[in-house]
Amino acid sequence: SPATIDTRPLLDWYDRNARKLPWRVGPEDRRLGVVPDPYHVWLSEIMLQQTTVAAVGPYFHAFLRRWPALSDLAAAETDDVMAAWAGLGYYSRARNLKKCAEVLAAEHDGKFPETEAGLLTLPGIGPYTAAAIAAIAFDRPATVVDGNVERVVARLFAIDTPLPDAKPDLKRLAATLTPSRRPGDFAQGMMDLGATICTPTRPACALCPFLGSCRAQGEDRPDRFPVKGAK
Ligand code: ADE
Repeated sequence: SPATIDTRPLLDWYDRNARKLPWRVGPEDRRLGVVPDPYHVWLSEIMLQQTTVAAVGPYFHAFLRRWPALSDLAAAETDDVMAAWAGLGYYSRARNLKKCAEVLAAEHDGKFPETEAGLLTLPGIGPYTAAAIAAIAFDRPATVVDGNVERVVARLFAIDTPLPDAKPDLKRLAATLTPSRRPGDFAQGMMDLGATICTPTRPACALCPFLGSCRAQGEDRPDRFPVKGAK
């Protein structure tokens, strides 16, 4: 049952194995009191939708060089933002990025709301992004579920329901796991675990902090989860 899964090993694993990402405040700095810049967290999460971590890096740096603060982006020409986005694709993301910066400047004192509900009112910020910013930037106990996290949770609980029908169950189960202490590091740890250990094929179960509590790991084919449905 969900209550039997201890998530402390995931945080311990994250402390030792967190990926060093340009937009991330790692667990060591976090412990020293360094807090993430919500502008950086937001920009990275928008860029990471439909785009890989490797591809986003150069764009993330270029944006911050050109528009070091949220207020700079709010004052930018939309055409310049679109040109800087060129190559990332899904251009509605860039249009909403600029619009969101303007709304924050005009109506929110140039700052991001700290709650999921407040974040959800902003252009280009849907349920995933609202949860990611609330958890990662503000350390709120929001449940962040991307494809990586869906896979980890489907395996932890050996969920046989095919995707996409399983999504609401996976989200509820992920919420039961989210700790009240360090929810932001928990969210990032789950993403890193899915990206590096609990991979789509050939998961490295021997290295997993959930070894022993994962229902799929006890089976001979942990990689059969999540079960794919008809498209
Ligand atoms: N993919 C999307 N957001 C991410 C994050 N904050 N950390 C790692 N991978 C991610």
